Amino acid sequence: MSPDEGPVEIVVCLGSSCFARGNSENLALINSHVQSHGLKAMVRMTGKLCQDECMQGPNLSIDGEVYHGVTPARLLGLLEQLGGPDRGQHGTS
Ligand code: FES
Repeated sequence: MSPDEGPVEIVVCLGSSCFARGNSENLALINSHVQSHGLKAMVRMTGKLCQDECMQGPNLSIDGEVYHGVTPARLLGLLEQLGGPDRGQHGTS
């Protein structure tokens, strides 16, 4: 993403099924990743209610692209692709 494209929009399903299946953990992971990578200005996170796709959960979307069965490891991979102010300096801690 380039700075002029606006913030990345991450929408997390907060329905009870997705939340119990892993979005509770995913939410915490997004928050900590955004903070530790200084991405606050380039990520906008919102929640949504159940979209009747519970069986495929936990579900979330990034810039309109919907992801199903999002494990923390997969989410981390997606978040790493966002880059950020410290791009290229990952893994130094
Ligand atoms: S709880 Fe997420 S789709 Fe139903």
